[in-house]
Amino acid sequence: MRKKIIAGNWKMNLPLQKAMNLVFDLNQQTHEIKPNTQLILFPTLPLLNPLKEILSPNLFLGAQNISQFVRGAYTGEVSGEILDSLGISYALVGHSERRHYFNESDDVVLEKVNRCLENNIKPIVCVGEPLKIRENKQHIEFVSNQVINNLFHLNADDFENIVIAYEPVWAIGTGKTASPEQAQEIHKVIRNLVADKYGNEVANNTSILYGGSCKPTNAKQLFAMPDIDGGLIGGAALNAESFIAIYDAV
Ligand code: PGA
Repeated sequence: MRKKIIAGNWKMNLPLQKAMNLVFDLNQQTHEIKPNTQLILFPTLPLLNPLKEILSPNLFLGAQNISQFVRGAYTGEVSGEILDSLGISYALVGHSERRHYFNESDDVVLEKVNRCLENNIKPIVCVGEPLKIRENKQHIEFVSNQVINNLFHLNADDFENIVIAYEPVWAIGTGKTASPEQAQEIHKVIRNLVADKYGNEVANNTSILYGGSCKPTNAKQLFAMPDIDGGLIGGAALNAESFIAIYDAV
């Protein structure tokens, strides 16, 4: 059975003390985790280690970024090997902010996926269409191509370690959310693509998260959809109350 996942993408927010306070609050409110459900926090990279020291074993940490290179003279980058040495088990790959502001192409995303898998890190691979593409009704084709170009070089065994997040670019940080039906449409397309390539079992075991202005007021309706297995949460993850409310909705 596929996992339910609620992941908090803190982006470039929360310096050390604020981040520690949030972790203390989350630790207290997660004494018991629902079965087959994971809560993952993605702080900014330098905070991974200090937060690991205080994090409850019920919570997981992930990296917001990972280099496409193995190791060497790449100033400012963080390798899969280094993340693995810190005991980090997840990484975000292909987030639209990385694709847009840092020009990460599908080829770079593919390499990052590979670096994750070589280092026992599960990538949460983000896909999603910009507004223009949706307005032109090309969103299904656009997202399908991202999934194919970023992931379909993998074999079925490796694919078991993949989590996908559908994050329509027009919904990220804008307060606009895809309706449950709009999100479900794309999630189903993604699951069907995975089924065609890797078979029904792999497809049914793949967690597909929704991201883009997911908040306590819309989480329940989104998570009620058959192919939405949790959320990648930005703004609403910066506060324990709203993050836990979203977790309660899954
Ligand atoms: P948002 O961000 O919830 O603030 O829209 C989601 C994300 O970018 O992962």
